[in-house]
Formats: sequence, C-alpha cells, structure tokens
Amino acid sequence: MSALQAMLDKQGGSSKGPPRRRQRGGGGGRGYGQNQIQRQSERRNTTQRSNGRDNDRNNGRNNGRNNGTHGNRRNNNNNSSSNADQIYANIYKEINTRARQKQASFLTTSTNTATNPKEASERAIAAEQALLRSWVGELRPDTTTPTTTTSTTSTTSTTAPTTTEICEYYQDRTKQYPFFTSKDGYTLLQRLLDNNVILLAANMALILAKGDPQFVAAQGELIYEMKPSLKAYNKTWSQEEYGHPGLQRTYIKLKSFQRFTETWATLERTAAEGLFDIHKETSKPLRVASIGGGPGYELLAMKMFFERFAPNVSLELISLDLCPSWCGYVEALGFKFIHWDIHSGNLLGTLNMSPGDLDYVIISYVLIYCSDDPTMDMLASLLTEGQVRAIIVSERSERTAGVGMMEKRGMTVCKLMDQSMGQDERQCIYVSDSNLLLSTSIGNTAERKQFVPVFPNVPFSEHKKARQEGGHRLGWRPFHGR
Ligand SMILES: C[S@@+](CC[C@H](N)C(=O)[O-])C[C@H]1O[C@@H](n2cnc3c(N)ncnc32)[C@H](O)[C@@H]1O
Repeated sequence: MSALQAMLDKQGGSSKGPPRRRQRGGGGGRGYGQNQIQRQSERRNTTQRSNGRDNDRNNGRNNGRNNGTHGNRRNNNNNSSSNADQIYANIYKEINTRARQKQASFLTTSTNTATNPKEASERAIAAEQALLRSWVGELRPDTTTPTTTTSTTSTTSTTAPTTTEICEYYQDRTKQYPFFTSKDGYTLLQRLLDNNVILLAANMALILAKGDPQFVAAQGELIYEMKPSLKAYNKTWSQEEYGHPGLQRTYIKLKSFQRFTETWATLERTAAEGLFDIHKETSKPLRVASIGGGPGYELLAMKMFFERFAPNVSLELISLDLCPSWCGYVEALGFKFIHWDIHSGNLLGTLNMSPGDLDYVIISYVLIYCSDDPTMDMLASLLTEGQVRAIIVSERSERTAGVGMMEKRGMTVCKLMDQSMGQDERQCIYVSDSNLLLSTSIGNTAERKQFVPVFPNVPFSEHKKARQEGGHRLGWRPFHGR
C-alpha cells in the first residue's frame, strides 16, 4: 500500500488506533453540515460532556449561563444545547452557501487564464504557494541597527560598514502586524516554507479524495474564518472540523508561521534555562513526544533547533493526536504519528517506552482541551514516575489553568515570558526536579543565560507595554483568528 493510500485510509479513522471516541458530528464521507439534524443529539451529548473540561477560555460566559438549581441547570443546559445546535446549524448553512459562491468565483478567475480545469487547478495551487511565500519578505539592509565595531588593530574604535540584514514577515493573514527577523530567521522561515509545500501537497491528495477540490477548500477556509464550534460550543474546532482537509489546508497556511516561531522562541528560552546543556555532552538519542501535535510544527521547530544546538544528538520525534488525519502530514515531515486521546492516559505505554526512555513532552496550544484533573495527574506522573525531564508548554492565554494545577501537584513551573509587565504564562516549563533549571534551582541564584532571539517579539508582547501605559485597544493577540 502506498504511503498516500495509507494516509487516505487513515483519514477515515484508523482501525488500529485507540478506541475512537464519539466525535462531534461523525466524520468519514458525509458532507459537512449536511447531516446536522441527525447528528444534533450526538452533538448535544458531546457538548454536555465537554462543558467545564474543554472550555476554560470561555468559562465566564458558561458560568453565567449555568447558574441556578440543579434542575434549572439541567433545563438550561438542554435549552442552551439546542440553542447552540441551532447556531451551529445556521452557521453551516451560511458556510455552504458562501463556499459555493467562493468556489464559483475561483473557477471563473482561473479558467480565464487556463485552457482546462487541471491546468486551472495547478495554476491556483502555484498562486497559493506564491502567496504563502509572500508572508516572508526579502532580506534588506537593517538601517536601525548600529553598525559600530571595534577594530583590533587600532587603539581607537572605528565604524565599519557592516551589513546587517533583516526581513519582515507576518503571522496574520491580513498582514497587519509585521514581525522582524534576522538573516538567520529568514533562512529558517524559508525552510518552513519548503516544508509547507510538502504539507500542502499531502493535503491536496486528501482534498481530491473528498470530491470537488474547489468547494472543499472554500468550505475549509470558511470553517476557519467563521469558527462554528467556537460560536456554538466554545471550542475552537471540533474533531470533525480538525479532520476537514479544507480546514487543514487553511490551518497549514495561516498557523505555520506563528506556531513555528513561537515554538522556536520557547526552545530558546528553555535553552537559556540550561535545561538542554546536558545534550551537548552526550550522543544519547533524544526522545520527544508532542501531545496534540496537529500537523507537526512544534516537532519541526524542535528538529531544526537541535540541529544547531546539539548537532551530534539524534532525535526521535513523535506526534500524538486525537485527529487521525494529521498522520499523513506528520509522516511527510519525517516524524512518527500515533493516534491517541490524551484522556486515555498511559503515554509511556502508548509509546512502548519505559520510565526514563522519554526525555521531553512538548505541548502547543492544546491545554484548553485538557486542563482537567486526570490529565494533569497524568502529566505530573510523567515527570515523577515516568522520569520525563520536562514538559515544555506554549499556549495562547496569558493565564493558563495548567500552571496552578501543576504547582498544586508539587511540580515546579518556570514561566519563560517576562513577568514584569503582568502575569504571562504563555510559555512555561514544568519539571519535577527544580535543579534542572537555572532560575529555579534550590539555593541557587543563577540567572538565565543571555541570548539574542532569532524571532524577537514572539509571542506578540507589544500590547503589554501599551497596557501599562494606560490602556490600549490592542488585544493581547490582535491577529488571533486572522
Ligand atoms: C489548536 S490545535 C494545536 C495543534 C498543534 N499543537 C499546533 O500548535 O499547531 C489542538 C490539537 O489538539 C488535538 N486534540 C484535541 N483534543 C485532544 C485529545 N483529547 N487528545 C489528543 N489530542 C487532542 C486536536 O486534534 C488538535 O490537533
């Protein structure tokens, strides 16, 4: 069986994976939004189960809705579930209408310049890749960086015309918020783009398998943009939506720069804590598991980071996710994929590993789905009995439930972001042995090592200064969702 066929098979759910949890709205070959009435009661059950577990981001809204006696709460839940189902169904109606319009306009544009539908499709894909590449600007001389150097042959300082180069890049699709990086960062982003081409090719195979590629792609863009599950059920995307190849295409295009650069920045800060120094001294292979790894950007960043940090160390990188169709992407990047539900626990057993075999766990934008006691117990026990050196976390919110929950379990949490302008828990390291980190080691006043970040201002932090200066309308991540 070809790798592609295996990927297509897995898209419908692997028979070898963990027992499939009931996923909102089912999946497989049924059309999105087409069978919603039949699926409403199933959705309602899932929603009620997940309330209070998955939705910490919007607890304020939920709490208000669920106040009252138990009986009232049940009624309220039923009412709000059917309201939510209605909202969900209505949004899908709109998505399907708009997807048909979008599809039509796309075909008109491309058939103007192509002689047949296949050529039109190829041109559209090439244009899409060119557009994605345009998120990263060309290198240009940096006129803001001082170019003063000290000459070793002279007793006085001289100014040499060094050519520092920078490049502007974006993380939001409307390109409103420029970020800057060095030549080094530019090279990394070009490698990311090359990997995205591989991911987009894998994705096109999945899209074609769904039928009309233009419609599926348009539908995915609209699911990304309109977020039906967030509006109806306070959950960014359901498992069915994560498995939609059109949504996956949009995710690859829009999230890659943010996820890659944020993981890179987290790893730089982690290295500054001295955690990785031990790997420079040994050639022992390093094993890293990414929980809820999606298409695999955090593992890609890990691989590229260690290539320069400890080039002699070989890496075994494994991504685990509840959504089985991420498999083809993760494997296309050269990593291992395991279909796994974090709520089923037993990570080491799933990996066929013994305590001490797994070095690190990395979690990127997943805690909103699993900040519950059993998951936090499982993560804490990985650090203690499992002898995992550290769990490295990168999340969306400046306040994350995971921090307090891990501390309550006796773990040390090292917050990597600057805290001087207010609490910021977006990037953290969880360890059981505080001596592994410079800033938390017992009786030690050692500070983090200095470093020059490859991707400055990642994650976006300009709003914090603005907030200190008397309030600013900039959201903490103004481009989120764009
Ligand atoms: C916001 S995405 C993050 C993906 C990736 N880590 C990244 O940063 O791009 C959340 C991921 O968590 C996965 N997920 C959600 N619930 C899960 C669970 N119970 N067990 C494992 N993965 C889960 C989703 O399928 C999705 O791929």
